[in-house]
Amino acid sequence: MNTSLFHKQNKNFFIEEVNINKVIEKYGSPTYVYSKAMIVNSFLEFTKSLRQLDHLICFAVKANSNITILSLLAKHGAGFDIVSGGELKRVLHAKGDPKKIVFSGIGKTMEEIQLALTANILCFNIESEAELFRIQEVAKKLNRKAPISIRVNPNVDAKTHPYISTGLKDNKFGVEEEKAIELYKIASKLSHIEISGIDCHIGSQITEIEPFIDSLKKLLGIVEHLESIQIKINHLDIGGGIGIKYQNENPPSFDEYSKAITNIFGQRKMKVIFEPGRSIIGKAGALITKVEFLKEGAAKNFAIVDAAMNDLMRPALYDAYHDIINLTEINDNPSKVFDIVGPVCETADFLGKERHMAINPNDYLAILDVGAYGMTMSSNYNSRPRAAEILIDQSDFFEIKSRETFAQMIHGEELINNI
Ligand code: LLP
Repeated sequence: MNTSLFHKQNKNFFIEEVNINKVIEKYGSPTYVYSKAMIVNSFLEFTKSLRQLDHLICFAVKANSNITILSLLAKHGAGFDIVSGGELKRVLHAKGDPKKIVFSGIGKTMEEIQLALTANILCFNIESEAELFRIQEVAKKLNRKAPISIRVNPNVDAKTHPYISTGLKDNKFGVEEEKAIELYKIASKLSHIEISGIDCHIGSQITEIEPFIDSLKKLLGIVEHLESIQIKINHLDIGGGIGIKYQNENPPSFDEYSKAITNIFGQRKMKVIFEPGRSIIGKAGALITKVEFLKEGAAKNFAIVDAAMNDLMRPALYDAYHDIINLTEINDNPSKVFDIVGPVCETADFLGKERHMAINPNDYLAILDVGAYGMTMSSNYNSRPRAAEILIDQSDFFEIKSRETFAQMIHGEELINNI
């Protein structure tokens, strides 16, 4: 599989068959660009690696929720992992199949549960006793049976950034093993609940296979125990979390990951659900930004660009590393060490630190590997409009989200004069 988004031909950078300068000329910056082929290929590669399992891949919508991208994945057979009513509406709008939707998250509201029940989704991943009773209540009112899984917190260390680790016992997610069994017993007696599966998700950007295997073994142990008390589990949802290479990481390939999981299932007849986000789309997107100024500080050189922490929050929030390349052909400055920073009034507003690069004012840079958790985590901080999004498909490119206008940004705000 092609793992790099850009390729260079005669000093020009291309995504698929499109010269990136064409996109910049037409849409300016900051702009997110994606390769359709890379998104689809990752999805198909993951599917292929799972061919020996009865499986369903539910793309984690929080990683990238653009409706064209959701529709693209739906057309290739993807289901979806959602965490809000808004994500549910996006998937339905993109013609995703409700019977392939799993609903995760610890704080589902009555309205969200009602929406999901009415849409007839595949499963609610339940994270607490209170949520179980709430779902029973809403289902009873609607006279429907709600299919559920209990999200188990297997207490394994995913060895990832603490903000995106979710499977340890002091995290807010899921319930511990004993509690899960108790909840299954309660659920089996509730009139409007139908036990469907068992679920976990231990974290994100996981670069080793062991944590997945450890949690899977724990879940299968619980499944066996439940079977011994006549509670049947039809599917096992192992969550998302496979990491990608941002810098020096060495994450498992889909094949390695899937092989390890498949081996553990052996002859067991059970559907397996996966909720990948980052590993499907992370490497398929870049953020294009223009260099506004170069500034020599007392201790550092800064390249001040027109993208900022509101467009890409990962560096500020997790100290995340993203490779940055210069897309501009003429580059007569010698390389220097730069911090690449945005215009937002915060020291945390950086996109890259200590990068050895040649940069001139007006150059265009690409911040790489931002297809996942880039656009979805963007905000209007400093009243900056959200970026445009462009999808490249061979020699064509499509504006899948236009740059936000000022009118859109203040939509819903009221100017009340007489106060
Ligand atoms: N399923 C559940 C229940 C999740 O909470 C998540 C991510 C996923 C699936 C997808 O995980 P993935 O395959 O993408 O690792 N904003 C952070 C990542 C937060 C992930 C939260 N949960 C970042 O930019 O690194």
